[in-house]
Amino acid sequence: MKNCVMLVIISVLLCSNISICFAAPDSWENLAQTPPMGWNSWNTFRLKINEELVRSIADMFVKQGFKDAGYEYIVIDDGWQIDRDAQGNIVVNQEKFPSGIKALADYIHSKGLKFGIYSDAGYKTCGGFPGSRGYEYQDARQYAAWGVDYLKYDWCYTGKQSAPDSYKLMRNALEKAGRPIVFSMCEWGSSKPWLWGKGIGHLWRTTFDIRPCWDCGKMTLSNGVQIENFIGFTKILDLQVGLETYAGPGHWNDPDMLEVGNGKLTADENKAHFSLWCMLAAPLMLGNDIRQASPEVLEILLNVEAIAVNQDPLGKQAVKIRDDGDLEVWSKVLHDGSRAVVLFNRSGNEANISFQWTEIGYPTHLIAQIRDIWQKKDLGPFTKTFTAKVAPHGVVMITVTPE
Ligand code: GLA
Repeated sequence: MKNCVMLVIISVLLCSNISICFAAPDSWENLAQTPPMGWNSWNTFRLKINEELVRSIADMFVKQGFKDAGYEYIVIDDGWQIDRDAQGNIVVNQEKFPSGIKALADYIHSKGLKFGIYSDAGYKTCGGFPGSRGYEYQDARQYAAWGVDYLKYDWCYTGKQSAPDSYKLMRNALEKAGRPIVFSMCEWGSSKPWLWGKGIGHLWRTTFDIRPCWDCGKMTLSNGVQIENFIGFTKILDLQVGLETYAGPGHWNDPDMLEVGNGKLTADENKAHFSLWCMLAAPLMLGNDIRQASPEVLEILLNVEAIAVNQDPLGKQAVKIRDDGDLEVWSKVLHDGSRAVVLFNRSGNEANISFQWTEIGYPTHLIAQIRDIWQKKDLGPFTKTFTAKVAPHGVVMITVTPE
C-alpha cells in the first residue's frame, strides 16, 4: 500500500499532462511525445546492411552533433533477418551481424542512443525475409530481450489481413514483452491508419515510399486514384493536406523518412524538404549516409531552430494556409502562441510570397518579431503582413512571435 502511494506521488511529480499522470514516465503511452528523430538504413543502403555500418553511424551521431541536436533512434530496416529456427525463433543473418543484435543494441545504448529494428505484419518482409505473422509474441519477446527501443512494422505479404487487427496484435505483444518500444506502423496509408492508429502505433506512414526527387512518380488521386509505389517529396507533401488534425503527442502522421542529401536533390530542394518535414511534425528519420554528408547537408540536418519547430511540445502539424498554384504558405502553431511559417516556391523562378496576419490567426494590428530560420537572423518587428523573395524550388522559413 505504502509503495503504491509512493508510486502515485512519483508519477504525479514526473508528469505534466494530467491525462497521462498515472503512467510510468517511460510507459508505452508516454513514448514519442514529440516526433521521433533518428536514422534508418533503408533509403541509402536497402538490404546491404551490416553491424560495422550501423556502429559507424552511431559513432557519427555523437561525433557530428546529431545526438546533441536530438537525433536518437538508430534503426536497421529490412535485411537483418534470414530464417526461423526449429523453435520458431527469428534467425539473424550471421554474415551481416556476426556479433548478434544484442551486442549491437548494447553498443548503441553505450553511446546514449536508442536502437530500432524492422519486421512485417505478413509472413514475409518486403525484402522476402521471414515476417512476424504468427510469431508476434515470440518476436516481441525477442526484441525486448535484445534491448530494442523502436519497431518499424511493414505491410508486405499480408493478403487479406485486417490492418487494425494486425497492428493491434503486435502492439499488444510489445506491451506484454514489457519493454517500452516505439511502434512505427508502415502500411503506407492504405487503410487510412490516421483514422484508427492512435493508441495502436506512435506513428503511421501516410503514403507509399519516398524517393530522393522533387516530384517523380505517378499520382492522380482525388479520387481518380492511380498513384505509384514510389513518389517524390512534393507529391508526398500534397497528400498530407487534410491529415493535420490526426497528429499530436504520441501519435504522428509519418510522410516517410528523409531523403535530404540523397539523389539529385539540390541545396534548395533539400532545405525545402527538411523545412516542410519539420513543419509537418513528421518523424525526422535521416535516410542518408551521414558519414559522407557534405557540409551543406550537415548544416541543414543540424539546424536546431528548424528542429525546434519540429519538436515543439504542442505537437501541431502545419496547415497549408495559402495555395497560389506554385506558391504556397504553411503555418504551424507553436506552444507559446507564436507561429512557424514556410513560404514555399514550387516554380522554376524566383518569386515574392506574402501572407497576412489574419491567415495565421493574428489580428492585423499585432506587432510580431520575425526570425529567419535559415539565415539565422532577426528581421525585426512587422505588422499586418510579411513578404519575402523565395528561390526557385526553395523556402523561406520564419518564426512569427507576438511582442
Ligand atoms: C517497404 C517500406 C520501406 C522499406 C522497405 C523494406 O517498401 O515502405 O520503407 O522498409 O519496405 O523492404
